[in-house]
Amino acid sequence: MSRRLKVLMVTPEVVPFVKVGGLADVVGALSKVLDACGHDVRLVVPKYAGMQHIENAKPLPEPLIVKLGGHDAYARVWECKLPGSKVICYLLEHDKYFDDPAVYGGGPSGDGHQDAYRFTFLSRAAVDLSAFLDWIPDLLHCHDWTTGLVPVYLNTTEFNEPIGRAATLLTLHNMGHQGRFHSDLLHFAGLPDSIFRPDGLESMGQVNLLKGGIYHATKLSTVSPTYAHEIQAPENGGGLDHVLRFRAADLMGILNGIDESEWNSVTDSLLPAQYSAKDLAGKSVCKVALQKSFGLEVDDTIPIFSVVARLFGQKGIDLLAAIADRLMTNMQIQIAVLGTGEAWLESVLSNLAERYPGRFAVHIGFNHKLSHLTAAGSDFLVMPSRYEPCGLSQMYAMKYGTLPIVRATGGLKDSVDQYVEGEASGTGFLFEQASPDALYYAIGWACSTYYDRRDEYKKIQQNAMLRDFSWEVSAKTYESLYKWAIDTRRNAFDD
Ligand code: ADP
Ligand code: GLC
Repeated sequence: MSRRLKVLMVTPEVVPFVKVGGLADVVGALSKVLDACGHDVRLVVPKYAGMQHIENAKPLPEPLIVKLGGHDAYARVWECKLPGSKVICYLLEHDKYFDDPAVYGGGPSGDGHQDAYRFTFLSRAAVDLSAFLDWIPDLLHCHDWTTGLVPVYLNTTEFNEPIGRAATLLTLHNMGHQGRFHSDLLHFAGLPDSIFRPDGLESMGQVNLLKGGIYHATKLSTVSPTYAHEIQAPENGGGLDHVLRFRAADLMGILNGIDESEWNSVTDSLLPAQYSAKDLAGKSVCKVALQKSFGLEVDDTIPIFSVVARLFGQKGIDLLAAIADRLMTNMQIQIAVLGTGEAWLESVLSNLAERYPGRFAVHIGFNHKLSHLTAAGSDFLVMPSRYEPCGLSQMYAMKYGTLPIVRATGGLKDSVDQYVEGEASGTGFLFEQASPDALYYAIGWACSTYYDRRDEYKKIQQNAMLRDFSWEVSAKTYESLYKWAIDTRRNAFDD
């Protein structure tokens, strides 16, 4: 390794401490790989109520002073290692801002109002941490809107401080969430009014934290090459496509990898049986266990189509609900849905489960162990996403020999190769339109492949299991991007 970099990851979630979605997997896995490459990687995350696996965390003797607008606040800092690595994690404890198990949208009103203060606090604390620790990172790697204020601080209040020389990289995991709040937030944040402008934090009269981050970060990345293009067009830019076009020269799309120490069918201790591409016997054991867990009829010959997803519009699970009657009537298949999200969708899916007992099953909730069993025990994974920045579930599925049926968008397009009938090439089934019919035909195609082209089905299952989704390649790209950002920032000071 040529140059040991000091990197501070600023994140709202990280595996195994706290996880809402794929961002947590990505931050955990990327940090570990960069650490293994010899970099000094540290991480700062709120200490939410009910966090997992932090038994070994120790409080630092002094409190961290967090310099908010017009007043100082104090956070207790707990230190521990990210399991399986040397990555030092700083967990920020604060009774008012973080003593709640919900990562997003919590607080007394449940309307997300608390998020404005909680994540401003996280961003400011991340900036104040370096002087407190006497450890100045070369780069702060920020994740999503929740950390959008970090680059803003470095370009404003911190510009003449030692931390002001650090570069920032903002990774855009999802343009669908931007952190739009009342402009009063700037006073709470201790930021000057001068940054409340259209080429800064202002958007339609409100503060937009993601927009501020996009304007102020040294470099930008997103989680797949296709999504990097898509977000520069109005359909997928969430109203910020013009800002992303403006910063296009500083934006890179880097496909996420997966943590193969956790998601590996050969070693996965959360499964009732392990298996490999050479010997799939254990997969049948997992299938039976899955059918039992979901209350599906136990029958090894019927293909299981599963979903593991947050039940929100982005994921397009409503499209599956819309064709469920047709699927149940016309195809010999089972459906298993694991997810939690919008109440109306949870209720539509639960109604379907009542109407088709033993054939359509739903588990509402977040269940880590069951997500592993679902990846392993299913035959197909359905991801009809309206948009998908990267998506990890389809990669986990492929590594477990479960073929993805995905809409050709974002990272789904970049990670799944279309099956070609007759050639048995490809790793899954892609379809173009976000419509019930398009999904119906894709599932029909997968179903007929399972029953009628058995040899081809087995071949693409092998293709999928042998695909390399490890982090090593993408981590190297991040390393280059970090160096580019650091050089750019230093040159700006030297000029
Ligand atoms: P997103 O981050 O948009 O939710 P990804 O596919 O990148 O989508 O990552 C989703 C992650 O969350 C995967 O690791 C998936 O296994 C996990 N996940 C989603 N819903 C659940 C659930 N209900 N229970 C357990 N894990 C879940
Ligand atoms: C977001 C995206 C998802 C991506 C994940 C990790 O939550 O919705 O597509 O895989 O972040 O980058």
